[in-house]
Amino acid sequence: MLLKLTILPGDGIGPEVTEQAVFVLQAIADAFGHRLQLQQKNIGGAALAAVEDPLPADTIQACLSSSAVLLGAVGSPAFDHYPNHLRPEAGLLRLRRELGAYANLRPAICFPALEDCSPLRADLVRGTDIMIVRELLGGLYFGEPRSISGSAGSRVATNTMTYGEQAIARIARIAFDLAAKRRNKVLSVDKANVLECSRLWREVVIRCAKDYPGVQLSHMYVDSAAMSLVQRPKDFDVVLTENMFGDILSDQAGGVVGSLGLLASASIGGPVGLYEPVHGSAPDIAGKGIANPLGAILSAALLLRHSFQLEREAACIENAVSSVLNQGARTTDLARAGQTPVSASAMGRNVVEAVKKSVGK
Ligand code: IPM
Ligand code: MG
Repeated sequence: MLLKLTILPGDGIGPEVTEQAVFVLQAIADAFGHRLQLQQKNIGGAALAAVEDPLPADTIQACLSSSAVLLGAVGSPAFDHYPNHLRPEAGLLRLRRELGAYANLRPAICFPALEDCSPLRADLVRGTDIMIVRELLGGLYFGEPRSISGSAGSRVATNTMTYGEQAIARIARIAFDLAAKRRNKVLSVDKANVLECSRLWREVVIRCAKDYPGVQLSHMYVDSAAMSLVQRPKDFDVVLTENMFGDILSDQAGGVVGSLGLLASASIGGPVGLYEPVHGSAPDIAGKGIANPLGAILSAALLLRHSFQLEREAACIENAVSSVLNQGARTTDLARAGQTPVSASAMGRNVVEAVKKSVGK
């Protein structure tokens, strides 16, 4: 199969982790007889520095003409003082919208070898396997009006949370379909005791659930869900939630399973899927070669699964990651006292070797 991808390394640790993910994709292509066709483009701060636009037109063009997009990270303190539409993050948000990627899947899995990396007791976190389904094109991120207005000392800032029934129904169906292939549980997270958006959300989700009699639906307010996530993470199966709540709960889930550096994501629903680690650009460790590339590598697995239906190849990457962790390889974020951390590139090489070994090449 021809795997035509656009690679967007982006900012901070983005280029380091994306490089390792591409090595792993190449190893998979070699092992399973696929052809990798890559083009690399700028996004975020890297694009701002080059052409003063966080999402240049040729980047969008390249993404729309490929079969899937692999992104590293965007965000850089150098652009903190820029107006909203000229921040690196604005490029990522526009890309998600251009790609119609309304469904953001963020698996949070506790690898058996990493039970003791969680700040929670091993017996609490053992067996955790959560799929966060975050609505990605609505809510506060995109709602209009938005502004800061008025004069110094009396300025007022406005953001708007808006959700329509169709936007809620389409993300709900993604969550129910996923649950039907997992443990048949959907937890819808909202703030229906306070927000109209959440009341409509709950009503529409309940209506959609009627088409999935085999899936058990429950509801929680976001504050209480945040608490339960640390008290009993293994009770969660699919978590369905709106954009901002999903952003917050997915970082929390990363912490629960040991490191945000492990979390991968798939943003799907439109013609071209976008795959990116959840961790962000981590400017404090950028360029040191110590970032954890596993979030990016596992995002490449999601890319093979969701954009190409290459389930065996995706599982091969996930098993390779499991096995290098079983062998004791730990990047700085995962290393415990007495363990010598490995670099990002050593971790990537380990995964490549494990892929080759598992297919006998
Ligand atoms: C994420 C990130 C982004 C988001 C930022 C970088 C815009 O935090 O993917 O979780 O808030 O969606
Ligand atoms: Mg986030």
